[in-house]
Amino acid sequence: MDLTPHAASAATTSPLRAPTRPAAISAVGLAKSYGDKVVLDGIDLTIPEGTVFALLGPNGAGKTTTVQILSTLLSASAGQARVAGHDITREPDAVRTAIGVTGQFAALDSLLNARENLLLMADLHHLDRREGRRRATELLRRFDLTDAATKPVATFSGGMRRKLDLAMTLVGDPRIIFLDEPTTGLDPRSRRTMWEIIRSLVADDGVTIFLTTQYLDEADQLADRIAVLDRGKLVAEGTADELKRRMPGGHIRLRFAGLDDLESAAAVFGAATPDRDALSLQIPGDGRIPTVRAVLDALDTASLQAESLTVHTPDLDDVFLALTGRPQHEERSPQARRSPDSRMENAR
Ligand SMILES: Nc1ncnc2c1ncn2[C@@H]1O[C@H](COP(=O)(O)OP(=O)(O)OP(=O)(O)O)[C@@H](O)[C@H]1O
Ligand SMILES: [Mg+2]
Repeated sequence: MDLTPHAASAATTSPLRAPTRPAAISAVGLAKSYGDKVVLDGIDLTIPEGTVFALLGPNGAGKTTTVQILSTLLSASAGQARVAGHDITREPDAVRTAIGVTGQFAALDSLLNARENLLLMADLHHLDRREGRRRATELLRRFDLTDAATKPVATFSGGMRRKLDLAMTLVGDPRIIFLDEPTTGLDPRSRRTMWEIIRSLVADDGVTIFLTTQYLDEADQLADRIAVLDRGKLVAEGTADELKRRMPGGHIRLRFAGLDDLESAAAVFGAATPDRDALSLQIPGDGRIPTVRAVLDALDTASLQAESLTVHTPDLDDVFLALTGRPQHEERSPQARRSPDSRMENAR
């Protein structure tokens, strides 16, 4: 996947060649406290139009709070923010007109069917009857929900609900869309469908996406820029590649049948770290073919045989661990834990 960020190229290119994209969302010193509990501790953000921004963090980091403040559902305790060119405090109505919010807890009416939900939303947006019906039909088709259009939402699977929830958001044709954990709890296939939809919103419709996620691979897959939120503070911001570059390099791990082989191999690879309990040897290096071949050749030359070889490229899990001193998974909810392991996804 090409992770070359629009944002970074816009920021680093001469204005004569490529004008900097205007910010869809900007915030300075955004803070939120409940009594003496600080939930957001001064957040600065700039998100250029037409890009995907991922706010990454574990449970309780403050992701939903940030979305709610930027979408004017909650007032900030301090700081300023502009969304779609409007101040969130002074011009909340103008902000609301320009945005769509797909929340962590869907705003669907379970007793209505999918089409009725969309038509209700069209009414709320004051679309005339015909335009409302046209829009509903188009969105049902786009989200592959045409067959389910007349079924009550109560019978929908989690993936179908998420899709319909996003379709509801699109009825108003927003330029900026907030997606709060759009794939939490979805199976791998539904996640990929949702990713495709999100990509098409940016590529085809040019919208700006602000998404929150607990999944490192999701941020890696979708976002031009990623900010890592931990306990109300941004602890890092950059492209996936920039974040990965802040990491110690990857390694190759060899496992041996016995301790003798392990010790012999450790003597061959000077910079390697042996783990005698696991009978494995960790050799610093990237996962590129020449590196792997060199390792195998060195084993051959020493007439040693490894039981297995695994390549570990640094992923965003490592970034999180390096930035916060804790694994990203430590505070995950049981629901989140059921979803695919990001390390597996990153092994692509
Ligand atoms: N009304 C409130 N009163 C007091 N504390 C609150 C309130 N709303 C949220 N919090 C606290 O703010 C912190 C951040 O909550 P928030 O919902 O923004 O986190 P999150 O990153 O979205 O987490 P999750 O991944 O679980 O959705 C949590 O510790 C939460 O308990
Ligand atoms: Mg949340």
